[in-house]
Amino acid sequence: MNRELENTRHAATEELAEVRDLTALDQWKVKYLGRKGKLSSLMNRLSEIPPGERPAFGREANSLKQDLTAACQVRLEEIREALEAEKLVRERVDTTLPGRPLTGGNLHLATKTLEKIIDIFTRMGFQVLESPEVETDDFNFTFLNMPQDHPAREMWDTFYLEGGNLLRTHTSPGQIHAMRRFHPNPVRVILPGKCYRYEAVTARSEFMFHQVEGLAIGESITMADLKGVLISFARQMFGEERQVRLRGSYFPFTEPSVEVDMDCILCRGEGCRLCKETGWLEVAGAGMVHPAVLASGNYDPGKYTGFAFGMGSERTAMLIHQIDDIRYFFGNDLRFLRQF
Ligand code: DAH
Repeated sequence: MNRELENTRHAATEELAEVRDLTALDQWKVKYLGRKGKLSSLMNRLSEIPPGERPAFGREANSLKQDLTAACQVRLEEIREALEAEKLVRERVDTTLPGRPLTGGNLHLATKTLEKIIDIFTRMGFQVLESPEVETDDFNFTFLNMPQDHPAREMWDTFYLEGGNLLRTHTSPGQIHAMRRFHPNPVRVILPGKCYRYEAVTARSEFMFHQVEGLAIGESITMADLKGVLISFARQMFGEERQVRLRGSYFPFTEPSVEVDMDCILCRGEGCRLCKETGWLEVAGAGMVHPAVLASGNYDPGKYTGFAFGMGSERTAMLIHQIDDIRYFFGNDLRFLRQF
């Protein structure tokens, strides 16, 4: 029997050396140390041994059990370490790989253009003011000298909200807000923001776009001031050499009213595709604030005068970058937007 203990020790040790993973280790444990394992079955045969030899056999068997249990524990640790090392190799971080490029965002072209326009006017002493996109009929029309049924309202048709409010069709209602806020002090403000139009979307018109409104009110403001401000703006925005002309026009909220043209930035007035062979590009609408509008803003038209202008942010960007379709601005196509 002692011989069998020796054989078992030998076999178990050899087999344990071959064990490479936890499953095999478990199988080994069942085979030698389990309830029905080799060692148990040897112990069960105690009766076959002469009673005098039993204590010695028992001691031997116990020491074998302890040795095998200890060896099993050692092997378990070894296997765990091996697995851990393998995992480290598998999950190793290669710090020499090139990094993934960070795709930085950029401001939208309409916003960038707006910021450039704002920058120019603030340096001329204009203050930036915001006014609501949701307006009343009075602010969008009536206070701007377009009473109910005025035919000019049709040019600024809009989206109406429940309860009678509307989405402003231009930034001009901001003139009234500004005047009512600053009265009786002089006013020099620009009002940038979104406008909405009830209009089919085409290459030339969107139902939403950005404008910048300008307004100056004081006791001796003349059309020469308007022209000076506009020339200065055109040269800073479109190039030092720009020529500006004011062409008579009509807006209900100004009198007289003008369209502001500058010589074409592409052909410099020769005539080309951009300026439709006219040599001129229209950049803004403007004029002297109509007495009725001054009165809506609480300024006495007998004492105060002022000028106003309005320009489109997208339209300005289209001229500078020769973009021929306004729909690119809000088509959410990054191939377009990333260029600017
Ligand atoms: N509000 C006009 C529009 O949306 C633009 C405009 C024209 C604004 C003349 C002005 C102005 O302040 O004086 O078409």
